[in-house]
Amino acid sequence: MTEESRPVPQHIAIIMDGNGRWAKQQNMPRFMGHRAGVKAVEAIVKHCIELDIKVLSLFAFSSENWRRPSKEVSLLMELFNLALKQQVKRLHKNNIRLRIIGDLTKFSPSLQKQIQQSQSLTENNTGLTLNIAANYGGRWDVVQAVQAIAKKVKAGDLDADAISEQMISDSLATAILPEPDLFIRTGGEQRVSNFLLWQMAYTEFFFTNTLWPDFDAMALDEAIASFTHRERRFGQTSEQLQEQSDA
Ligand code: IPE
Ligand code: IPE
Ligand code: MG
Repeated sequence: MTEESRPVPQHIAIIMDGNGRWAKQQNMPRFMGHRAGVKAVEAIVKHCIELDIKVLSLFAFSSENWRRPSKEVSLLMELFNLALKQQVKRLHKNNIRLRIIGDLTKFSPSLQKQIQQSQSLTENNTGLTLNIAANYGGRWDVVQAVQAIAKKVKAGDLDADAISEQMISDSLATAILPEPDLFIRTGGEQRVSNFLLWQMAYTEFFFTNTLWPDFDAMALDEAIASFTHRERRFGQTSEQLQEQSDA
């Protein structure tokens, strides 16, 4: 493969980790790290548009993050609400389709309303799909998909034996989106922390020690460069792939 013909990822999924440690390094409260994290999101979204990436999924708040001190949780909620309010017009102007995935029922009515408005304003946009995972858990996603399918079986609209992988994929919160090609986790931990479990069965993983607020366009380029040099075999052999690309 020539350098130019190497595929770019269509869908990048990121665990934006390390905000708290970034703040600690600068002797600031953790919250300042989250604020700096929002700035980093802006820069990465801009760069994804420049690179013509189709989907960017960002893990903003996990279903386990409620376990944090209540003060931090409420500050995170406020920040999320504020960021949506301040950014949605700009996202819309940039033809970005915003989607929020997760169990949204746990959010305050005002945040739920803000989410609904932001999604409907941008739903017909055709540029980057920005998929924000909030109160999201990969296991929650599988459970809600299974519940939806079970209801169809119970109603007699579906035979249990007809349940397929495709049907489960289509029932997940990410249904209409392609699966992530590249997964990035900043902040040095090498774990999935209940992010897109089903969807990342064949995703390429990239871990970096860079803390999220320091993750910039150059850092994203580095992750993509690593991706483009990998051979995605999906169970096949290297020789088979070679034959297919020669044909
Ligand atoms: C990620 O940064 C942001 C959220 C989980 C909301 P952290 O807050 O986990 O930062 P560290 O891991 O403590 O440095
Ligand atoms: C994962 O980060 C969730 C988000 C980035 C929103 P955490 O920092 O909460 O992950 P763990 O719990 O340390 O694995
Ligand atoms: Mg963390």
